Amino acid sequence: MCGIVGYIGNKEAYPVLIKGLQRLEYRGYDSAGIALINGGTNIYKVKGKVKDLEESVKNKDISGTIGIGHTRWATHGEPNDVNAHPHMSENGIFTVIHNGIIENYSRLKSKLIDRGYSFKSETDTEVLANLIEHIYKVGNISAEIAVRLALTKVVGAYGLLVTCVDEKDQIIAARKGSPLVIGVGQGEYFFASDATPIIEYTNSVIYLNDNDVAIVTKDSLSLKTISNEKLLPKVQKLDLDIGEIEKGGYDHFMLKEIFEQSKSINDTFRGRLAIDNKDLILGGIHQVMPKLIDAKRIIIIGCGTSWHAGLVGEYLFEDLAKLPTEVEYASEFRYRKPVIYKEDIVIAISQSGETADTLAAIKLAKEAGATVIGICNVVGSSIPRETDAGVYTHAGPEIGVASTKAFTAQVTVLTMMALLLGRKRNVLGDEKFLKLLNELSQVPDKIAEILEQSDDIKQVSKLYSDAPNFLYLGRGYLFPVALEGALKLKEISYIHAEGYPAAEMKHGPIALIDEKMPVVVIATKDKSYEKIVSNIQEVKARKGVVIAVVTKGDSVIRGMADYVLEVPDSHAVVSPLLTVVPLQLLSYYIAVLRDCNVDQPRNLAKSVTVE
Ligand code: F6R
Repeated sequence: MCGIVGYIGNKEAYPVLIKGLQRLEYRGYDSAGIALINGGTNIYKVKGKVKDLEESVKNKDISGTIGIGHTRWATHGEPNDVNAHPHMSENGIFTVIHNGIIENYSRLKSKLIDRGYSFKSETDTEVLANLIEHIYKVGNISAEIAVRLALTKVVGAYGLLVTCVDEKDQIIAARKGSPLVIGVGQGEYFFASDATPIIEYTNSVIYLNDNDVAIVTKDSLSLKTISNEKLLPKVQKLDLDIGEIEKGGYDHFMLKEIFEQSKSINDTFRGRLAIDNKDLILGGIHQVMPKLIDAKRIIIIGCGTSWHAGLVGEYLFEDLAKLPTEVEYASEFRYRKPVIYKEDIVIAISQSGETADTLAAIKLAKEAGATVIGICNVVGSSIPRETDAGVYTHAGPEIGVASTKAFTAQVTVLTMMALLLGRKRNVLGDEKFLKLLNELSQVPDKIAEILEQSDDIKQVSKLYSDAPNFLYLGRGYLFPVALEGALKLKEISYIHAEGYPAAEMKHGPIALIDEKMPVVVIATKDKSYEKIVSNIQEVKARKGVVIAVVTKGDSVIRGMADYVLEVPDSHAVVSPLLTVVPLQLLSYYIAVLRDCNVDQPRNLAKSVTVE
């Protein structure tokens, strides 16, 4: 959470910073600020969004070819102008923007207060700014050494940019735990939490690793570790298109991303699903395949929507590969003293590849000697670099805070993995393998068909946008879809919603049902169809409103439910990929009708880099 940008070169920094902050606003949007170096340092910062910052700098001096900017998701101190970044050290020598958490900030702050420092904000970042200044003044050393020494005293995570009034022509960047990318231009450098603010200027980038410090002027970049060991910067080429990070005519990124799912799943297939050769290739896990084949257990870890994808994975691995699978919230896993064996395969699922809880759980699994595989969307992010092997989802940048296309891409990868493993472990016969491969290959076209009904879904959403509660029910492969549908609704429309396995309804939630309670039942034709039909009858008997997601042409449920949303007929194994789409649209339209900020829901951030 929090987005950071920086620029050093010959251009005016302000437009680069503002555009960059807009691109990073998904990471946090409760306050924003910039510092521009032009002789002195001009800092402008406000509570609110980047547009509020733009408003606040009208008629102010925004010149300068060096600058840093920040968009905040508050951790220490409420969102207000004072707590917004950048933070300047007490004597104005250093200016800092920071993404992450300084865990020992309170101890450091007390020591600095004892040495005469005072603090304007409640943030951990101001502590860091003053710590750097204190070390700089006492040691009479360069800014770079002061930053490095200060960082050795810090416990926690940071991606940060620092400027110093005495060394005006440089920006110092450092990373531990929070992402930081440097774009390499001609006589200029760009800094950002991810590559999206950089791509329109250059596709040559350097991803900083943990404990890296970069000292950058417009003409030079020197990379070292915190402990002063020289490093060779590794310049990589970005494979990202500017069109992918723009709204492209849609009202919101979320809608664009929902509509992109036929394409994004085809991108997930690319080079992997070879339908003509009746084969699946997952190069990223090839080297760990012998371990996967012999594994006795898979543990899947993730948070939020990625955890829901993991739940689908549990059904897939047990059904298709006969591999016992457990799914854990990464945050609970790491604090539960879990029993992890060396032979275990741990699969970490994450769109951003930066989720702090998932990263910490990976560390634990690695320490226990397990083989860790990542399923991530953001190329070059931390999780792919921490894992033994992995598969990128290649869904393209997901900017709407509510995850949509990343979920379907994650489930697509898990389906491919389960199919491949089932075959390699000789538990899935050729005929079934090919049938399911074929089913999977049809998913993008079937999603396109579902998206054609978006107007019908919009009509249904109008009827229930004022409902205070929703219940979502599904069985088997569709239970995780019920959870995901409920999460989508609550996070973007702020309507309370709960997902349940349909059969659990009678063990409690049925007490909630009355004529005001919309119940979304995911009831496509599979082996538990008859049972879910009974569940629908139970809801109707209590006057509940049923919105059912059904297989196209299902007249039985159409006769019982208040509204039906159809999806094309498919095998149960791929049904989560289809049934989640109408639920995404339903949440989207309800949120729009409630005038909610769909792409940036309150209190949330796209990349949760704090624990
Ligand atoms: C929900 C959502 C979050 C994320 C969760 C994990 O729409 O976006 O629940 O799924 O924060 O994030 P990643 O997948 O980046 O690890």
